[in-house]
Amino acid sequence: MRLTSALSSVPFCIGLAQAYGDDPFSKWHPAGPGDVRAPCPMLNSLANHGFLPHDGKFITENRTISALSTALNISAELGKFLFGEAMTTSPEPNGTTFDLDNLSRHNILEHDGSLSRADYYWTHDSHSFNATVFAQTQSYWTGPVIDIQMGANARLARVQTSNKTNPTFSMSDLGDAFSIGETAAYIGILGDVESGTVKRELVEYLFGESTAFSFGGCYLSHCGWNALLFVFL
Ligand code: HEM
Repeated sequence: MRLTSALSSVPFCIGLAQAYGDDPFSKWHPAGPGDVRAPCPMLNSLANHGFLPHDGKFITENRTISALSTALNISAELGKFLFGEAMTTSPEPNGTTFDLDNLSRHNILEHDGSLSRADYYWTHDSHSFNATVFAQTQSYWTGPVIDIQMGANARLARVQTSNKTNPTFSMSDLGDAFSIGETAAYIGILGDVESGTVKRELVEYLFGESTAFSFGGCYLSHCGWNALLFVFL
């Protein structure tokens, strides 16, 4: 992060805090009874922080665009596109909202060979964080900074493991595109786009969001997420 970026972001952060009445990053709390979550660690984080509805339900296009834009500075165009992708998982053919757990429907967007979820074949649970799967991913992040090569190696290893061990392994073109996009997203959104690098601990906090468990003793928002706002200003 460049110092000038950090300094120029201060008014933005103050504005963000005012828009929410106080600091939105102080509002973190995990899913409770009746709340639903996604196989996506970032959407879970946005719900845990209240950028998306905390119960994870009835998410509209406007709310998706606004959450992605406010928290991550993602353009409205991309937010609209991602909402459209999410809607393909809704069980309501004429619905206008999706719930986070709709995204777990197997082989629509959700795919085999995930970085932190087991394949549907093994447990019929490709939704929940799986420590064994994530440990394999982590073994390819061989330093405190993850670069594009490490990210690609981790993704490839997970896909190859699934392909070898899961007799029902399948990866649609859309699943493949999402899988590549997920690795690009954690590097590009949490890290530095120009160098293609990201601090490993920040990525580990992100994956910890899906577990209500924090790697290294703190949640993403407490230990680093404020910093990522600076990257895009
Ligand atoms: C509306 C926006 C989004 C939708 C609909 C969405 C959807 C999904 C889905 C369905 C998965 C599960 C794929 C699998 O089977 O592993 C997933 C995983 C993931 N998403 Fe998102 N996502 C969105 C936004 C984001 C953003 C902004 C990030 C930024 C970091 C992100 C990062 C990830 C990562 C790293 C994974 C991989 C999890 C794993 O492999 O264990 N997503 N997302």
